[in-house]
Amino acid sequence: MYNKLLLVGAGGHCRSVIDSINYVQYSDIGIVDLPEMVGKNIFSIPIVGTDEDIESLFEKGYHQAIITLGSVGNPDKRIKLYHKLKLIGFQFPKIIDSTAIVSQISVEMADGVFVGKGVIINTGVKLGTCAIINSGAIIDHDCEIGQFVHIGPGVRMSGGIHIQDNVHVGIGSSMIQSISVGRDSIIGAGSVVVSDIEEGVIAFGIPCRVYHKGNEVAI
Ligand SMILES: CC(C)(COP(=O)(O)OP(=O)(O)OC[C@H]1O[C@@H](n2cnc3c(N)ncnc32)[C@H](O)[C@@H]1OP(=O)(O)O)[C@@H](O)C(=O)NCCC(=O)NCCS
Repeated sequence: MYNKLLLVGAGGHCRSVIDSINYVQYSDIGIVDLPEMVGKNIFSIPIVGTDEDIESLFEKGYHQAIITLGSVGNPDKRIKLYHKLKLIGFQFPKIIDSTAIVSQISVEMADGVFVGKGVIINTGVKLGTCAIINSGAIIDHDCEIGQFVHIGPGVRMSGGIHIQDNVHVGIGSSMIQSISVGRDSIIGAGSVVVSDIEEGVIAFGIPCRVYHKGNEVAI
């Protein structure tokens, strides 16, 4: 099969994604990153160009892409890259690590989703475009995760939670059932979220409280 895959961004998240790819699906894999990285390899995968080369790489047959640039709290670059690549015509495969346990019943995953090692996804879960579900997270039944959300390693989510677009849920946080987190918010590491969190805030702690809202420190 002639199926060339481009990874965009060569950092830590890229290495996680490389380790989870099902290689039999691709005839060729290349990475784009900063100019000084061109010619190097990440594991055995070559860095074949920079962001400037993405269009010509598409013409050379790389028609599938994964945005492997990570994000902790600010997904803007991931979002911009996604729209640039989509306009060129790239398709975005889902990468699901072979150790993840994903319910076979009513799970929906949009383009470009990454599901890392040891993740558990229960029935009725919906994952938005380019969402990252990082190592060991548990997403219980009927949770809805928006676009460009990053669910950090080891996060535990009860059933029926709604995480809106662009949210970062920090490593090791726990969330009770049926709550929501508004778009663009950040939940700090190790938080216990027991009520709804509004949009555009930084919140953390046990219980999770808003710390930062716009330019104001709230506590
Ligand atoms: C919440 C977070 C975004 C805040 O970052 P920040 O705005 O740079 O905040 P600061 O580091 O300046 O900390 C401000 C205060 O909040 C406290 N604080 C920060 N994060 C906290 C957390 N998760 N829980 C409790 N307190 C926290 C700090 O100790 C500091 O307190 P102080 O003013 O008494 O010294 C960050 O600490 C965090 O938790 N990021 C998530 C990381 C993550 O998930 N990584 C996974 C990568 S895969």
